[in-house]
Amino acid sequence: MGDESKKNWVLMVTAQSPTNIAVIKYWGKRDETLILPVNDSISVTLDPEHLCTTTTVAVSPSFNKDLMWLNGKEFSLAGARYQRCLSEIRGRASDFEDEEKGICIKKGDWEKLNVHIASYNNFPTAAGLASSAAGFACLVFALAKLMNVKEDCGTLSAIARQGSGSACRSLYGGFVKWDMGKDLSGNDSVAVQLADEAHWDDLVIIIAVVSSRQKETSSTAGMRDSVETSPLLSYRSKEVVPKRIVQMEEAIKTRDFPTFSKLACTDSNQFHAVCLDTRPPIFYMNDTSHRIISYMEKWNRFEVTPQVAYTFDAGPNAVLIAPNRKVATLLLQKLLFYFPPTPDTELNSYVIGDKSILKDAG
Ligand code: DP6
Repeated sequence: MGDESKKNWVLMVTAQSPTNIAVIKYWGKRDETLILPVNDSISVTLDPEHLCTTTTVAVSPSFNKDLMWLNGKEFSLAGARYQRCLSEIRGRASDFEDEEKGICIKKGDWEKLNVHIASYNNFPTAAGLASSAAGFACLVFALAKLMNVKEDCGTLSAIARQGSGSACRSLYGGFVKWDMGKDLSGNDSVAVQLADEAHWDDLVIIIAVVSSRQKETSSTAGMRDSVETSPLLSYRSKEVVPKRIVQMEEAIKTRDFPTFSKLACTDSNQFHAVCLDTRPPIFYMNDTSHRIISYMEKWNRFEVTPQVAYTFDAGPNAVLIAPNRKVATLLLQKLLFYFPPTPDTELNSYVIGDKSILKDAG
């Protein structure tokens, strides 16, 4: 770097990453530090319009420490997860040169440059809408671009995984599987794209934001308790999920909505059963969530084929998936009629989405 360090330049990258919603859930770690899961999981990546994180990362010789702002407020980067992502990326950085701006950064110089990170979620943080998934995927992707990291998407997913498990799946659009891997190093615990965002593009996703409050039990704490205390979790991870993953992959490949719906709903319900089986029990869903499940189950049983799939992450918000626009319109009408967004119902808004991909906005 030499003389460059005296110059007041700023190098900046902005990226945007959507959140993802698991249809076969990740719940439980076999290694807490490396974030290695007890089972494979499968998710759908949403379109970035409604549920996404936008992150700008910058380096400059004038920055005297690493700093981060989340939704405009200073946010500590001291946590081990942030530190791991930063050092994994810095360790893989390569030479960068911009003659016009007079910037020349050698591989080893990246370690000496401090980074400033500004991140915004366009949806409630930590309310069970996978904010950490979009957040870490976006951070890793943006830092990798900034520091000229030449690794493939799989390796970046393994780095994002060390920020938050579900983040590894947001590195890809469409349908994504997180392969739990076998290696102790975690190098093979990576996300793979099952099908891109053009596949099965008639699916429509409606999210009923039942509550935008922060959840009481974080996913990290909740799954730690489940691993330690729930016999149902060990049965689920060994006996149930491996078969479901194969069936779900096939249902996605063949666009088999009845099977997709059955598997997604059953898996969500089993995940919440594991939460109840945990000591002390964890309650992520509320009465409105339960009423939505009952309503969707009745509707599916009343029709010849299932009309909707539902799934709930670590929060009360319902993610509803319709097979096409016609059914989605009907679904929205029913939701607005039976679950109107009023203060009485707790339910405050609906978000309509599509499947999509992480994009470089810089
Ligand atoms: C219920 O990825 O948020 O959304 O790895 O501890 O950061 P950490 O947990 P996180 O857990 C997500 C759990 C889930 C299911 C899923 O997304 O597969």
